[in-house]
Amino acid sequence: MNIVVTSLKGGVGKSTTSIYLAGAAVERGYEPVTLVDADPQASSAEWLELWPLPGITVVESPSERTATRSIERAEGLVVVDTPPGNERVTQSAVALADAVVIPTRAGGVEYSRVSATIELIPKRTSYGVVICAARLGTNDLEVAIAWWKEQKVEVWGVIPERVSIAAGPEARLSREGLENYDVVLGRALRGWR
Ligand SMILES: Nc1ncnc2c1ncn2[C@@H]1O[C@H](COP(=O)(O)OP(=O)(O)OP(=O)(O)O)[C@@H](O)[C@H]1O
Ligand SMILES: [Mg+2]
Repeated sequence: MNIVVTSLKGGVGKSTTSIYLAGAAVERGYEPVTLVDADPQASSAEWLELWPLPGITVVESPSERTATRSIERAEGLVVVDTPPGNERVTQSAVALADAVVIPTRAGGVEYSRVSATIELIPKRTSYGVVICAARLGTNDLEVAIAWWKEQKVEVWGVIPERVSIAAGPEARLSREGLENYDVVLGRALRGWR
């Protein structure tokens, strides 16, 4: 099972989402869980180097070729973190995906970048957006959810804006983050097996 976390847009929450999905998978008892970090920035690999999570193996694969090979070789549940703005890596990764998770933000129209990402996903592969760092109860969030609904794009989760969830090698995974991302994981796994 390959879950690819991707968006052509940068800084939306791809690495944070990848790490929490891998963490949520371990909590659900999946074994082994492999995190393929296809981003040369290696932010998720760096995070897990400083706060290793039992049950997650990190494979750094900073090119299209190495990422493809790592995804094909990895066993068990695989989560793939991808670099921003790299259409080739994104396309190769989503071609191997069973489910694609697209992190986004509420506020500001970013549909064009997301739809460019969606266009790279093979027809039968399921996908959904996750609204990251959301300010709960705001009009922006309501508008964003309504917008995706209107576009017939599934919203697989809304992750609240929290300092404790923020990506970074300083941080362990937060309980609230794991609970919110477990919902996303459930949507991504739906229909598998
Ligand atoms: N739920 C959240 N609450 C607060 N901050 C968040 C949340 N999710 C992500 N962030 C912050 O948003 C920023 C971007 O997140 P992240 O690094 O995961 O994005 P990215 O899409 O992987 O970025 P890049 O395109 O550079 O790889 C980080 O500073 C991260 O800590
Ligand atoms: Mg990243």
